[in-house]
Amino acid sequence: MSWFSIWESVRSAGIVSFVLLSISVIGGIFSSLLPKNQMNARLQMFHQISGWFGFWFAVLHMALLFFDEYVGYTWTELIIPFASTHEKLWLGLGTTALWGLAVVLISSDLLKILKRKWWKRIHFLTIPVYLFSLLHGLFLGTDTLSPSIVSLYVLSGTLFLVALILRLRVALWGKANRGGLRVRKRTT
Ligand code: HEM
Repeated sequence: MSWFSIWESVRSAGIVSFVLLSISVIGGIFSSLLPKNQMNARLQMFHQISGWFGFWFAVLHMALLFFDEYVGYTWTELIIPFASTHEKLWLGLGTTALWGLAVVLISSDLLKILKRKWWKRIHFLTIPVYLFSLLHGLFLGTDTLSPSIVSLYVLSGTLFLVALILRLRVALWGKANRGGLRVRKRTT
């Protein structure tokens, strides 16, 4: 199978996973800022589907590494965060991101039986999941020096930061308003 390179496939699956994860995380934050209408419902669906596909590509990315003989990772090194001595930190962040993503996705599927408050708390894990996978790709990836991949990281990171700042502003504004209403109620 000379046309199939495990190493190239590992890298491609990692990059596809990161792109899908970025779309899901950034799309999800923007969707929470937009009015609830039909277009937003489509964005929500896109957010969920890209999250799941991002997860499965990350699983493929990890599973293929088992068959790569260059480093020769064992299953435990691949599955348990920070268990590998080779690139311990950057590899560990990737494994942690994958487990975190699994928890977020499963909790979203269990929304009907989970209290919304708990679902929301778990959903905040997407922030470290995204940051861990960004650092993991940036510092571990062979392709980080290629201009197109650096542009991908810069574009994704910038959009993530803008979305997060807007979301925090809305959350803080809402809190301040609620506080104001409470004070006004007490004084009347
Ligand atoms: C959400 C989870 C993950 C995402 C989004 C992700 C994404 C990425 C990206 C974008 C790269 C850079 C590829 C390149 O530059 O060629 C990469 C590299 C790498 N990842 Fe992951 N990864 C994840 C999880 C994992 C896990 C669980 C492992 C194994 C335990 C792993 C092992 C590796 C290795 C060994 C490399 C270096 C490949 C190279 O030299 O290019 N990753 N990953």
